Amino acid sequence: MIETIKKHIAEVESFSSAKIEEIENFRIKYLGKKGVLNTFFAEFKNVPNDQKKEFGQVINTLKNAAQDKINELKEAYEGSQETKASYGDLSRPGETVQLGSRHPISLVKNRIIDIFLRIGFNVSEGPEMEDDWHNFSALNLPEYHPARDMQDTFFIQTNPDVLLRTHTSSVQVRYMENNKPPIRTISPGRVYRNEAISARSHCFFHQVEGLYVDKGVSFADLKQTLQYFTTEMFGKSKIRLRPSYFPFTEPSAEVDVYWGLETETDYRMTKGTGWLEIMGCGMVDPNVLKNCGIDSDIYSGFAFGMGIDRIAMLLHQIPDIRMFAENDVRFLEQFKSVL
Ligand code: PHE
Repeated sequence: MIETIKKHIAEVESFSSAKIEEIENFRIKYLGKKGVLNTFFAEFKNVPNDQKKEFGQVINTLKNAAQDKINELKEAYEGSQETKASYGDLSRPGETVQLGSRHPISLVKNRIIDIFLRIGFNVSEGPEMEDDWHNFSALNLPEYHPARDMQDTFFIQTNPDVLLRTHTSSVQVRYMENNKPPIRTISPGRVYRNEAISARSHCFFHQVEGLYVDKGVSFADLKQTLQYFTTEMFGKSKIRLRPSYFPFTEPSAEVDVYWGLETETDYRMTKGTGWLEIMGCGMVDPNVLKNCGIDSDIYSGFAFGMGIDRIAMLLHQIPDIRMFAENDVRFLEQFKSVL
């Protein structure tokens, strides 16, 4: 009988299966109520006394071997099930990933920045809440100067010296105060004006202003730089400068770009003239340089400023400036593919 048990042990040890039904049948065969082991245990009382010890040992070995084998095979089986589950069903259609999109103002702003970075400008930023000096006085706009009315200002009521900046020229003042020429910097940011809100104007909008200060900077440099910009930005190189007035530049000009009159949209956008006004510019007034601690006998400079919202409206045919601030996803989603 001991020999038979030993045969069983060998059989148990060599058994292998990855199928759960076969493993279960194996368990029933050995460890089940009417299984091999119980049959041998029942025989125990019939075994002659001198063999009882050895019989007990082999039968225990068989029991352990069967138990170990079952545990081992079950573990292997469960392991294989888990890996299958973690892969999921590879034939299922994929889940769609919702792509986000950048805000059109950011898209246009980044494009403008990129164009100026390529010709050696850096980016400077400053606070949206400003003091009178940086927003007005340093820019040749002393108190009671009538030109202050050109930009209707939000003041912080408790302190008339604190206001929401009306342009990012304030950042240029800060930059000149803290840096020596040569200076080539552009200042993008949000600005505020106390204007009636309509499809064309909002009480806050966005600007990029540029400043170049060095020895011998001339109006020709300004025009060349602007022409480079309009070519890169709009693919249009024909520009014209119309005399204008800004307190901080002398001479000053408005920049128009020739858009053309090829399509009906061109007609509508340019009111039939073919020309589009895109920014203001001029040679930095020597007073401004002085106010910022730069010797105006040695250095000269040019400055320009443009509205990002307006340019974004032109480029993307957006009819109402208020759409930029409404956070309507149906509007914002349309810029997914724009780089
Ligand atoms: N700061 C002016 C504005 O906000 C724009 C400008 C900047 C004009 C620099 C000339 C030179 O309207």
